[in-house]
Amino acid sequence: MATPYTPSQTYIDEFNSVDYFKTYYHPEEGTLTGDWLNFVLQNLHGTFTSGGVKGDILIDFGAGPTIYHLLSACEAFNNIITSDFLEQNRAQLQKWLRNDSDALDWTPIVKFVCELEGNSDSETCKKKEEKLRRTVTKVVKCDALKKNPYESVEMPQADCLISCLCLEAPCKDVESFTNALRNLKVFLKPGGHIIIQSVLNCTYYYVGQKRFSCLTISKEDLEAAFKEAGYEIVKLKVVPYTQKPRIDISDYKGFYFVHARKPSAKGK
Ligand SMILES: C[S@@+](CC[C@H](N)C(=O)[O-])C[C@H]1O[C@@H](n2cnc3c(N)ncnc32)[C@H](O)[C@@H]1O
Repeated sequence: MATPYTPSQTYIDEFNSVDYFKTYYHPEEGTLTGDWLNFVLQNLHGTFTSGGVKGDILIDFGAGPTIYHLLSACEAFNNIITSDFLEQNRAQLQKWLRNDSDALDWTPIVKFVCELEGNSDSETCKKKEEKLRRTVTKVVKCDALKKNPYESVEMPQADCLISCLCLEAPCKDVESFTNALRNLKVFLKPGGHIIIQSVLNCTYYYVGQKRFSCLTISKEDLEAAFKEAGYEIVKLKVVPYTQKPRIDISDYKGFYFVHARKPSAKGK
C-alpha cells in the first residue's frame, strides 16, 4: 500500500524525537545502528581525513534529534551550525549540547567514531564529546520547502554542508528534491562541498506507531538532481541493503553517499 505524502504539519504534530531515537539509534534496539551507521560514519571519517575536506564553517541540514554525523566533522571544521525543521528536535539537540542528564545517549556511537580515528579509550571519547559541544555554535530552524531554507536566520556561507536522511522526508518528488538542493547552494562558498547521505528506493518509515512517507529516489535520479541543481559530482556511492528488511520499520533498499561541489568559476 502506497504511503500518502506526509505534510509538514504532521511532522510538527506527530514526529516524536525520543521515539525516533529509540527506533533507529538506541544501542540495543535501534535499527540503524548496524549497516547505516557503518556506512555513513566511515564515509564521513574518510571524507574529512584522507579526503581532505576541511575548513572554517560546516552547516548541517536537518539533523533531527541526532549528532552522530557531526562526530568526525568537529575535527575538520572550526564552527558547526546545525539545524532542523522541528522545535522538538532542536530542543533535543540543545539538551545534548548542554549535557543535560536526560539528553539522548550517543556514547556507543561516539566510541565507534573514536575507533575509526584510532583511539577509543574513555578519556578520548569524553574529549570528543566536549569538542563537538564546543564546535557546534548554533542550532537553527531550517525548511527544505522554502526558497530560502534558513529564512528566519542570517547564515554565513560555509565550506561544507552535510545532510543525512533528511531531504526524502519533506520533498514530495525528485523535482522538489532538486529544488531543495539548488536552494542550498547559496549557503556554500564557491568551490564548497555538499555531502548528502540517505536511503535508496524507500517509500516509508515509522517513528513509534506513526508512518511517514519517504521520497523514492534512485541512483539515476540523484545524478540528474545534483547536475540539474548546478553541482559537480565528486563521488557517488550506492550500496544495496543486504540484510533481511525490517518492513515493520522501513522499506529502504540501500544507502547512498553523494559528495559534490558548488562550482568555483564565476557566473555558474
Ligand atoms: C528521518 S528524519 C532524519 C533525522 C536525522 N537527520 C538522521 O540522520 O537520523 C527526517 C528529518 O526531516 C526533517 N524534516 C521534516 N520536514 C522538513 C522540512 N520541511 N525541511 C527540513 N527538514 C524537514 C524532520 O524534522 C526530521 O528531522
